[in-house]
Amino acid sequence: MPPTAGDQSLRVAGIDFPDSQIAASLRDGLERIEKRLLDACRSDDLTLDEAAKHLAQAGGKRFRPLLVLLASQLGAPGSVEVDKAAVVVELTHLATLYHDDVMDEAEIRRGAESANSRWTNSIAILAGDYLFAAASILVSQLGPEAVRIQAETFQRLVTGQIQETVPPPAGSDPVQRYLEVLAGKTGSLIATSGRFGAMFGGASEDVVEAMTQFGEAIGMAFQLSDDLIDITSDAEDLGKATGTDLREGVATLPMLYALSDPQTSPRLRELLQAGPLTDDATHREALELLRASSGMDRAREVLGEYVERARAQLARLPEGAAREALDALVDFMQVRSS
Ligand code: IPE
Ligand code: IPE
Ligand code: MG
Ligand code: MG
Repeated sequence: MPPTAGDQSLRVAGIDFPDSQIAASLRDGLERIEKRLLDACRSDDLTLDEAAKHLAQAGGKRFRPLLVLLASQLGAPGSVEVDKAAVVVELTHLATLYHDDVMDEAEIRRGAESANSRWTNSIAILAGDYLFAAASILVSQLGPEAVRIQAETFQRLVTGQIQETVPPPAGSDPVQRYLEVLAGKTGSLIATSGRFGAMFGGASEDVVEAMTQFGEAIGMAFQLSDDLIDITSDAEDLGKATGTDLREGVATLPMLYALSDPQTSPRLRELLQAGPLTDDATHREALELLRASSGMDRAREVLGEYVERARAQLARLPEGAAREALDALVDFMQVRSS
């Protein structure tokens, strides 16, 4: 009997794919990548070995490697280069998580203690550096163009991360600025995941370009839904603390829209303008008001625009099972935060 929706054979990394052959290929690929990933995190120094493997072993969705594998289906999947590229993007992501948790003073990551909390800020920073070096070793095996792309990606990512920590330039539009930050800190690496997958799968230049644009748009949708989930979900489901953006005083899109709506209650406005909300009762109050605010729907609309932008890129791809699988990924992103 052919598999039907809800069938476990079609589900990979929580996403339902329409084709069982692609699903099986993705599952096999992720298994291979897992081994390579842990191998790349190893060190002869016992402290570093433990600290550098910590987050890889703690879990994670492996969304970026999945996109590399999926994009490679547009050419010839299964090459060693595709697998190495998938490990490069996850290592780069991991490095940024170590650093991000230091910057955000996060205590939990991937359902485990963050490295900064389990050890120290210094160890977390150095473990992140070590993983970035591991990514560099691997990407050097993929040739100079891959090295350049990865370096440019990391520059964009770091730029987004730093821009989030300082006030926007005077006179700039806060929503526009916020979207630029997201494109840097998240869109960049997910764009490169789509690009590397198509490149090392041997797809045509036009397909590589379409997958780069696709990755950028789906990456924006990914981060926008992450921001919504931070407001709507419970900490146990998330594997990291919830409402962290409010607690840290990071104004995400739903908050920026709530602030710009004249109908927003004076109390929510006051709380959103107060900066970091460290008091538990005040934090809870703000979270509840924000959940009910118009900012949520407006942010969902913007998420929908990026979802459609990603879908539009699919029209540039050859018809077939790989394109349909990418379409299923877009569907997933649309409902992820609803
Ligand atoms: C977390 O990335 C940081 C964001 C860009 C939202 P993921 O949500 O992919 O985290 P893991 O890899 O599953 O832990
Ligand atoms: C994640 O950013 C880090 C990067 C994208 C580099 P956030 O700080 O917004 O995400 P979480 O909530 O810690 O995963
Ligand atoms: Mg963070
Ligand atoms: Mg952060």
